[in-house]
Amino acid sequence: MLSSVLHDSSVLALVHPAPADREWWRSSVIYQIYPRSFRDLNGDGIGDLQGITAELGTLAELDIDAVWLSPFYRSPQKDAGYDVADYRSVDPMFGTLEDFDALVAEAGRHGIRVIVDLVPNHCSDQHTLFQAALAAGPGSPDRDLFIFRNGTGENGYNPPNNWQSHFGGPAWTRITEPDGTPGQWYLHLFDSSQPDFNWDSPAVHAEFEQTLRFWLDLGVGGFRVDVAHALIKKSGLPDWGGRADGSSSEGYPGAEAPMFGQPGIHDIYRSWRKILDSYDGDRVLCAEATIDPIDRLTDWVRPDEMHQTFNFAYLHHPWHAPAVRHVIESSLRAFDKVGAPTTWVLSNHDVVRHASRFGITTHQERPGDGIGSSDPQPDYGLGISRARAATLLMLGLPGGVYLYQGEELGLPDHTTLPDEYRQDPTFHRTEGARLGRDGCRVPLPWTPDAPALGFSDAGQAWLPQPEGWNALARGVQQADPDSTLNLYRTALELRRSLDLGNGSLAWYPGYDPESVLAFVNGGTAALMNMGSDPVPLPDGELVACSINGAVMDGYLLPNHSAWVRLS
Ligand code: GLC
Ligand code: CA
Repeated sequence: MLSSVLHDSSVLALVHPAPADREWWRSSVIYQIYPRSFRDLNGDGIGDLQGITAELGTLAELDIDAVWLSPFYRSPQKDAGYDVADYRSVDPMFGTLEDFDALVAEAGRHGIRVIVDLVPNHCSDQHTLFQAALAAGPGSPDRDLFIFRNGTGENGYNPPNNWQSHFGGPAWTRITEPDGTPGQWYLHLFDSSQPDFNWDSPAVHAEFEQTLRFWLDLGVGGFRVDVAHALIKKSGLPDWGGRADGSSSEGYPGAEAPMFGQPGIHDIYRSWRKILDSYDGDRVLCAEATIDPIDRLTDWVRPDEMHQTFNFAYLHHPWHAPAVRHVIESSLRAFDKVGAPTTWVLSNHDVVRHASRFGITTHQERPGDGIGSSDPQPDYGLGISRARAATLLMLGLPGGVYLYQGEELGLPDHTTLPDEYRQDPTFHRTEGARLGRDGCRVPLPWTPDAPALGFSDAGQAWLPQPEGWNALARGVQQADPDSTLNLYRTALELRRSLDLGNGSLAWYPGYDPESVLAFVNGGTAALMNMGSDPVPLPDGELVACSINGAVMDGYLLPNHSAWVRLS
């Protein structure tokens, strides 16, 4: 039955046609490097730029288009570098600007672009501009670069409004004025060490334009823009009773949050786009914007704004076929309307890794906020099976893909990390109620028997690696044809040779949509069995499956996926 439907591909209704334009970023595979946990070459237990350069050849085996580096700028590291003290520098912990040059040059030799992280919403409280603002006093031009307000109530004792920090607690901190009196309050949507810039100030615009040009001149391929939905705040800073992260909740649609998605934001990106377009080499802007629904998110990627935006709706999809189908279809349709590629992502440095997420079978008290030893532990066998299936399906989708370092090794989160190691400000600001994100930031395992699993030649690692990671070390997986690493290599190679990133999408008919996700991209069908019974594969050549043994006698087993070249 299945194959008879298929033989006439004209009966398939296209959800998404192949794009006419073929710029590299329409179909790119971008690999996120979290520098402090990638590879430590100088032996201090913290990854460094030289460590990245040394392994670019290894990464090139994955057939990626670009790497995106999380922040490596001078920073007190209160939020793992997302608290930037100098935007045009390399923190000595990670190396020097010469090391950065060498990294870009080596990446170029492998045909890999280097995208850097730009953090424009806030800086570190140690930034010279913030220090100058503290010293200058209320009403000064220096203070106008940040969001200082007088407090409310008697003697300004209470914060200017009720906004809450993403990391817990109030979004305002009161300072002591230079003359020693209790003073104004400053806004920080994140940690108190991360004061928000005032994007109504032309001086802030000028500052960031210089930073953009600085890195563009050094040859970067573009920028991932941190919290790209927060820069402008609604005038008057009205109270907000909704969620601190701006996602919709009952009575509080995210679209009304006064600190997110304000219309003025788009002019900033239009001006940045012009700067990028004035450089050669097709440089890109990618938004980290947690904006719902998708039809609003696409405003960030209109033709004169950014090139890509992360698709967090996809990242958060549950293990439920209709939900995945819905997010794929609504994403493609929405991004097609503005002529931008849809991107897909399953893991990053802010969420529990997907090999752990998909292994959660019990109710979690704090979903998405880290897993600790007192929580029910994920089932890794189930998790890795589903993670491999979900990845293979994702790599079959048209558009751009983001990978997070270590997912190609099938790494789970560290779900039993002792609390004394936790560094995420979320953990400390909530007094442990939220564990935070350290579990997905653990240094990578390179070799099975070396101290710190080869992450550092000196055997140091800033976070301990969990039990069992030696079996997942890259060195072990390179030699094993059935490893997760080799699944990624095969799938990425096929993705390129079959041109799937530039492809189209139609749903494949004949399967139960409650349990099977099946689509056709060009001449390739991708199927994921999210139900509990084996399902037959369409006629054709099986070119990839999520694990050796996923297909038996022409049937795809539950929790697996496969690609078939249709005959
Ligand atoms: C983004 C980053 C996250 C950081 C936050 C504040 O969400 O991905 O790691 O803590 O912004 O900069
Ligand atoms: Ca180091």
